[in-house]
Amino acid sequence: MTSIATKNGQFRLKSRPSERVSADNFEYSSESLKDLAEGEVLVRVVYLSLDPTNRIWMSDVEQYMPPVQIGEVMRGLGVGKVISSKNPRFMEGDFVSGLLGWQEYLVSTGAGAFPLFKLPDVPVPLQAMAGVAGMTGWTAYFGLLELGQPKAGETLVVSAAAGAVGSVVGQIGKIHGLKVVGIAGGEDKCRWLKDDLGFDAVIDRKKPSWKQDLAKATPDGVDINFENVGGEIMEAVYDRMNLHSRFVLCGLIAGYNDADDSKTKLSLSRALMKRIRIQGFIVTDFAERSAEASQKLLQWIAEGKLKHKETIVDGLTNAPEALNMLFDGSNTGKLLIKVSEP
Ligand SMILES: NC(=O)c1ccc[n+]([C@@H]2O[C@H](COP(=O)([O-])OP(=O)(O)OC[C@H]3O[C@@H](n4cnc5c(N)ncnc54)[C@H](OP(=O)(O)O)[C@@H]3O)[C@@H](O)[C@H]2O)c1
Repeated sequence: MTSIATKNGQFRLKSRPSERVSADNFEYSSESLKDLAEGEVLVRVVYLSLDPTNRIWMSDVEQYMPPVQIGEVMRGLGVGKVISSKNPRFMEGDFVSGLLGWQEYLVSTGAGAFPLFKLPDVPVPLQAMAGVAGMTGWTAYFGLLELGQPKAGETLVVSAAAGAVGSVVGQIGKIHGLKVVGIAGGEDKCRWLKDDLGFDAVIDRKKPSWKQDLAKATPDGVDINFENVGGEIMEAVYDRMNLHSRFVLCGLIAGYNDADDSKTKLSLSRALMKRIRIQGFIVTDFAERSAEASQKLLQWIAEGKLKHKETIVDGLTNAPEALNMLFDGSNTGKLLIKVSEP
């Protein structure tokens, strides 16, 4: 019999950052857990997913969901374990995923923008369910296959390639016979992409020669740009895009700490002359097909075609500082906070 917790450590949003996130933007407190009402479950958070979108949710800017309100528990995706349930859809001991929040426990009916769902019982580590086989993997899967429309032999460039989404995009690209060029920050990440994940070429964005290196790695131009970063990296890749190429606009992390996104310039004339299809998307656009993506991703993991890495930081209280790792580039693969033991 699982002992029932009575206290819940939580981060609430105290102020909106204008640049980097600081611990001062949050209030940490321990609050009493209320008794479950009919239809509710109590979930103990195991892994909290740290995502660039956490930073977007903290700002009062145009976005795909309402920003987190001052005083609200910080919004966050994650995986956790059901501790007790008054909801027939969930049983004690189930592992679940959804918007668990920056807290130790969630009391919820499971409904909402990212409804709580039960994780399948599969032989992959739980941290993979919070990344490569979860929302991160779905983003890579639908972004590349639906928007990118890849054809074998084409050249794909992916930025933030050693990150959570980018590392999956590149590997799905290889599975589909693409020539995959990744852009990442630093020698270790570039080595991992080339030697372990089988990327055809890697560009170290920290080298002064990165633009020339990009040109050398894409002698036939670029057919698909999977854009995770924005700024000058996006501009350099855009300038190499081919006739009828696809520009998959997944994210613009280089600008999330900066309220002024007017610095990035793309020539629409070039999009016209080269008939480039530029399309933004949010993974939730494909929510109804998430089971299809999970099944494929899990199959590729089992076949050894899709590898994954996680950077795991211990302890919920480290979440605010750890979020900045995404902006410093100090994560490889999926960045997670371990809140409790599975
Ligand atoms: N559209 C959607 O539904 C959706 C869903 C999930 C994620 N996303 C987007 O996908 C992108 C990647 O997200 P993720 O979760 O996979 O994060 P991630 O790639 O694991 O981490 C972010 C990486 O971005 C790179 N980076 C950060 N600041 C940069 C800068 N100023 N210039 C160049 N590179 C920088 C760093 O890698 P290096 O130092 O190695 O370059 C860093 O490790 C983000 O833009 C995110 O918003 C979109």
